[in-house]
Amino acid sequence: MFNTREAVKNIHWVGGSDRRLALFENLFPVPRGVSYNSFLILDEKTALIDTVDSSIRQQFTDNVKGVLAGRKLDYLVINHMEPDHCASIEDIVLRYPEVKIVGNAKTFQFIRQFYDFDLEGRTVEVKEGDTLPLGEHTLQFVFAPMVHWPEVMMTYEQKEKILFSADAFGTFGALNGNLFADEVRYEREWLDDARRYYSNIVGKYGAQVQAVLKKAAGLEISMICPLHGPIWRRDLDWLLGKYDLWSRYVPEEKAVAIFYGSMYGNTENAAELLASRLSQAGVQNVAMYDVSSTHVSYLISEIFRCSTLVFAAPTYNMGIYPAMHNLLHDMKALGLGCRTAAVLENGSWACASGKLIRQQLAEMKNMTVLEPGLKLASSLKDCQAPELDAMVQAVAQSLQ
Ligand code: FEO
Repeated sequence: MFNTREAVKNIHWVGGSDRRLALFENLFPVPRGVSYNSFLILDEKTALIDTVDSSIRQQFTDNVKGVLAGRKLDYLVINHMEPDHCASIEDIVLRYPEVKIVGNAKTFQFIRQFYDFDLEGRTVEVKEGDTLPLGEHTLQFVFAPMVHWPEVMMTYEQKEKILFSADAFGTFGALNGNLFADEVRYEREWLDDARRYYSNIVGKYGAQVQAVLKKAAGLEISMICPLHGPIWRRDLDWLLGKYDLWSRYVPEEKAVAIFYGSMYGNTENAAELLASRLSQAGVQNVAMYDVSSTHVSYLISEIFRCSTLVFAAPTYNMGIYPAMHNLLHDMKALGLGCRTAAVLENGSWACASGKLIRQQLAEMKNMTVLEPGLKLASSLKDCQAPELDAMVQAVAQSLQ
């Protein structure tokens, strides 16, 4: 039985959710699952906007068939060619052999790279700003390269003023019946996953997101339909505001995130003392993460949220404790910067982690490192209380 929702009259959500997937892109934990959104417009011509991951192919094709109710499918618009959205193109082509596939030059390059089905006579190649009339509805194509792949475009439906925004504005998390962001407690229950999705999937491409936000500012938008998660018909400025901050790498909150790695608990103990003293100094917004037991995607997400970061790690094989090294590597790969950082290092002999962490931070944009840091020789000693206090003061002042 098909399971769809009407987003607005004659525009139907025909996607679905996967709650079995453990790792999105085989990288990112999705304990709340993930949804793949697709939309079907019924007009003089019918148009399907994107397809879905292979995991929900059966539900998706049932949904499309159910909404079409015997009509033929005229167009399949491909906004994004990552397989979590394009995996069901061939199914659609086989079921609706007269369908025309709408995409840009790179879309068709990628279809040919991923698949072997015959595109001859099936393609409608569009360029930036081109329009495709369906009857009452008209689709307008807005290119969004590198948000999150080079072929990405968004589709703007002029009658209802809907932006089908590809990955942008999406989130991890399966839908639980509710389709609209205003039907759920988004800020409380979804924002963390939306930030984790943005920061890890699209976070590297802040400049390109800024370019798209400028294009979007020229459109009158009443609804945003991302490829993952709830869709937006209210409070669009709130959502756009988050994307503006994230894509400029501006922290959302004056907050401290303490990331620590610890082999036997000594570095952890120092990190705990630092957090406790920060609280006593009046700092309220503090989060602590064990880098060994927290997936790096959650750490990256917290870096997008927090203004001040503490990196506390032992020296390991003359280098940085591996889980911390992995976090710093990810930060660099995603182009992170514009934060204040403090360093707490440990080493029982030949302590080097502090110097090496500072080197990594120096390679990121606009990182301010608070000095002095705190250096442990195996464990924090009572005589180091003044050094700890100095670090607490420096971190607390950075928040003012
Ligand atoms: Fe949801 Fe870039 O794919």
